[in-house]
Amino acid sequence: MSVTLTPSSIASEQRSTVRCASCGATLDDRTARATCPNCGGLLAVEHVAPKATGAALRALFDERLGAASYRGSAADRSGVWRFRELVLPAARPEEIVSHPEGNTPLVARDAVASFAGASGLRLKHEGHNPSASFKDRGMTAALTQARRIGARAVACASTGNTSASLAAYAAQAGIPAFVLVPEGRVSTGKLAQTLAYGAHMIRLRGDFDDCLELAREASEQLGIYLVNSLNPFRVEGQKTIVLELLQQLGWESPDWIALPAGNLGNTAAFGKALREAHALGLIDRVPRLLAVQAAGAAPFAAGFADDFATRRRVRAETAATAIRIGDPASWDRAVEAIRFTQGHVVAVSDAEIFAAKRVIDACGVGCEPASAASVAGVRTLVERGVIGRDERVVSVLTGHLLKDPDAALAARVAGGLGAEEPLTRDEALGHLERVLASSSH
Ligand code: F0G
Repeated sequence: MSVTLTPSSIASEQRSTVRCASCGATLDDRTARATCPNCGGLLAVEHVAPKATGAALRALFDERLGAASYRGSAADRSGVWRFRELVLPAARPEEIVSHPEGNTPLVARDAVASFAGASGLRLKHEGHNPSASFKDRGMTAALTQARRIGARAVACASTGNTSASLAAYAAQAGIPAFVLVPEGRVSTGKLAQTLAYGAHMIRLRGDFDDCLELAREASEQLGIYLVNSLNPFRVEGQKTIVLELLQQLGWESPDWIALPAGNLGNTAAFGKALREAHALGLIDRVPRLLAVQAAGAAPFAAGFADDFATRRRVRAETAATAIRIGDPASWDRAVEAIRFTQGHVVAVSDAEIFAAKRVIDACGVGCEPASAASVAGVRTLVERGVIGRDERVVSVLTGHLLKDPDAALAARVAGGLGAEEPLTRDEALGHLERVLASSSH
């Protein structure tokens, strides 16, 4: 099947609708609202179905990936905009704010597979995005929307990655950015990025949940465009993590996709991606989602245990600071995602998260602490017999090791490495000889 790619194929007369999941209100796709103006509910974007479906749509996406990667448009080179029919079809080329992003590796490492007990485990490393986390996929869509609506400024609350990503994309778009972060709980790498990319940062005396409440209020009162993951366009961009990994697997669904879960925006995005991929015939079988929370910040795992009978909130505490969230904003959408995929939610302790992180780091792949939850959760469910040892599992690593260098060093010191005192030249040579001698037998 041959597909002609021209820059004009980027723009389309295809419109999308933005609909409130709670009251059903509909808004134009150029809305500046991040939540429903009538009832405050979560909004979702619905696209007109692309003309091609099934094999023809797969061929279109595959052709953009292969032939267009160096000579095509910037949008074709992006692992988000390659799937633009399912992201924001009406965005014109000049409106797209892209670094580009996506095109992240899917790797297999024996040490990690054997640690998790799942021989077919693969890692989708979203830390290879331009600001080193998966957030860039949602942010390219949100800042494109910000440009489309002529936003005067953009804002978010963040545990660090969203703020770094927002800062990078706002800089690219030339739009002022404001971020609210919890005091003392954001890792060095993320703070450094946010400031260096030029965002205005406010450190709040409070936790992430307090920051999000304030960000919502401030955006309402000051007319600043809110780009937290409750923003429906963020969700559209983040869907491409799933679309891209399915493409990398030749559109053969794995049995499970595991991901760390905090504010639940990504869980919601994964569910929506799978629903649409199945409805459009991109895949014929829906993988099961596994959302993994840190035990000290696990309201969603507690909800899963009673079939989501009630919405829960907790005061969150975990060393995996990225997912230190007690009152997840995308709860309802994430419940839908777990139900639709017959998925599972599990909580793992910080000790289990850091044990997984040490294994992922030591094979040269590396990730930030929260990301390792996706491997720790697989190990727990294999032990419990929920995931079969030979099932095909993809664990999503959401952020790069260098996001949190202090945690990476601490994990090695806890493992007995890296704590040595500085040595003189002679001591260093003696040390090298001893280490070589002990590692050669
Ligand atoms: N992994 C990492 C590295 C994160 O930064 C986050 C969220 C998650 C997982 C969880 O994703 O919230 O969609 O369930 N970080 C947000 C932030 C909250 O502000 O950077 P989620």
